[in-house]
Amino acid sequence: MSQRYVRIGGWGKYLPERIMPNSELADMIDTSDEWIRARTGIRERRIAAPEETTCTLSVQAARAALDKAQVRPEDLDLIIVATCTPDYSNMPATASLVQHALGAERAGAVDLNAVCSGFIYALATGSQFIVSGAYRSVLVIGADVFTRILDWQDRSTCVLFGDGAGAVVLQASDQPGGLLSFVLGSDGAGACSLYVPAGGSREPTSPETVAERGHYVKMQGREVFRFATRVLPDSVVQALEAAKLTTADIDVLIPHQANTRIIDHAVRRLNVPEASVFSNVERYGNTSAASIPVALCEAIEGDMVQPGSTVVMSGFGAGLSWGTVVWKWHG
Ligand code: ACO
Repeated sequence: MSQRYVRIGGWGKYLPERIMPNSELADMIDTSDEWIRARTGIRERRIAAPEETTCTLSVQAARAALDKAQVRPEDLDLIIVATCTPDYSNMPATASLVQHALGAERAGAVDLNAVCSGFIYALATGSQFIVSGAYRSVLVIGADVFTRILDWQDRSTCVLFGDGAGAVVLQASDQPGGLLSFVLGSDGAGACSLYVPAGGSREPTSPETVAERGHYVKMQGREVFRFATRVLPDSVVQALEAAKLTTADIDVLIPHQANTRIIDHAVRRLNVPEASVFSNVERYGNTSAASIPVALCEAIEGDMVQPGSTVVMSGFGAGLSWGTVVWKWHG
């Protein structure tokens, strides 16, 4: 039997319509457009409408990806939704809601939570089902409505995040290319550097947890910054080595869109030309699991990604966790 490869046959994104510029935040809390731009590079972010959820954002992105791939929902074998803001906090999985909304009758469905690294974990996982020969079509979604878990009184976190979804359709191919290598990592010692303290089995929801604002994101910004600036370049180099490549082989680098300063730092350490690095953090802020697939869509739309391009995608975030994939783009 000939070797099986995985290709990205379709891609799609969805960003909520509502734009929140920095100036609007400056009217709500003690911050300024200058501070946010200087420290993060973010100018504005998208905010989901009240009726929108991680499922509805996912479905919009998925439909675009399925159209592009010319794959019918009923032909999907598996749906993986990477998210840390599921529609329901415990059950069911958002992926099951997406499966039903799409009419993907044959597909299995599962959520995967590696927070901002989630899409990379899901892409690596979904690819295994294709290259093993088990499945032919896998839908991988990265989606978060992160603004629903933000404390809008906490200026150190609420200025950083936004909402969105991105999706890719993975398909079997007999043409060499697709996933060349991946690195997935975790350091749970840093779990409380970026977390939501309450609402899980450790601290179930109670009137006290609500009063203490325990259901919102807490972050040690400097610790996360130090972690991110270390693991992003390190995991890119490790993944390239696993693919027997070097940084000189990178055609397009798509880092997790958390902060321009983190991206700039990684670019300097990796010594890759700025023109090969995609960034849209300015317009969307950090959309968590959606950030890399949305950026991939826009890099493709902007003709940065060409047949044969070596595309390196790298995420990092809560866990702490990180992941990088090296992908050879098919024609
Ligand atoms: N506006 C104005 N001032 C602010 C704001 C704000 N929005 N936020 C914090 N400050 C103040 C602080 O109170 C502090 O004031 P002080 O010196 O009087 O105490 C000062 O600015 C400096 O604060 P620091 O936290 O030291 O600022 P820093 O330079 O580290 O920048 C930032 C903060 C942007 C959050 C940075 O630490 C960072 O980018 N960290 C990484 C965060 C990140 O990317 N997280 C997501 C990871 S992905 C995921 O999984 C979700």
